[in-house]
Amino acid sequence: MSSMSLAIMSGKGGVGKSNLSLNLGYTLAAKGHPLLLMDCDLGLANLDVLLGITPDENLQDVLLRGADVKEAIMPLNKKTLKPFDILPAASGVPELTDMNSDMRDLLIKRLEPTLAEYELIIMDLGAGIHGTVQSFAAMASVRVIVLTPEPTALTDAYALIKVLGQELGIKDFLVIVNDVVNKKEEESTFKRLEMACQKFLGVNPVLLGSVRHDIKMHEAVIKQKPLVELFPEANASKDINVLADRILKVYMRMKPLLAGQPVLRTLA
Ligand SMILES: Nc1ncnc2c1ncn2[C@@H]1O[C@H](COP(=O)(O)OP(=O)(O)O)[C@@H](O)[C@H]1O
Ligand SMILES: [Mg+2]
Repeated sequence: MSSMSLAIMSGKGGVGKSNLSLNLGYTLAAKGHPLLLMDCDLGLANLDVLLGITPDENLQDVLLRGADVKEAIMPLNKKTLKPFDILPAASGVPELTDMNSDMRDLLIKRLEPTLAEYELIIMDLGAGIHGTVQSFAAMASVRVIVLTPEPTALTDAYALIKVLGQELGIKDFLVIVNDVVNKKEEESTFKRLEMACQKFLGVNPVLLGSVRHDIKMHEAVIKQKPLVELFPEANASKDINVLADRILKVYMRMKPLLAGQPVLRTLA
């Protein structure tokens, strides 16, 4: 199978990465694509909390205690024909918040065969520009930067793109503007990021789209259920559906390049 891994990232925390990962994952799986949601925020994991589940084992158990990956993965929907699964992580386990290269190699070795069983792997990363974030960014097939219209989210997104370019030579980024009032705010926010990236970094980020600010998001978080499952007609759910279709277009375009390639790349 040709598998595509997407690193969902941001400079600033709290911009909506985990909620977008979860809801995009749900939507893409519902469209018939075997999908693994992977919690890669190894400091402050919270996909399990957003889903109200209590996993027995997690990614840290796999890496630090030799647990079986298959044991750590939980099905999120047993009704769907195609798998929609989660590989959770533990919160407050400091060992892997700054992953070294040995750990990176171990992670790839232990996870690769299992990840290759899915078409799409959504990796929900921690915020920031630290080593573990860089490692996951480098492993993924595609990097998606999430920001909001707030100036701090913009400068932090820029800083992240700058660091990934300088440290790893990564220059291809998709962008999601979350929490927008309207299309105009999507455009103005993206334009500001795009102009700074072009002018100072020689990078051309690509706009994937935006998700509107939606009060229902808060309600879904409180209820510990995906927004798109609880409120499929909400504005944010509709926007997420559009983003999912655009991700599928990217996947179809990349499929020939992904064939025979490892899901997680090793650093050059
Ligand atoms: N489109 C949106 N509309 C309203 N609230 C949102 C939206 N996206 C995210 N949020 C809220 O923002 C908060 C942070 O989201 P989260 O996904 O945990 O961010 P991150 O993973 O980037 O730290 C959540 O409490 C969520 O309810
Ligand atoms: Mg998060």
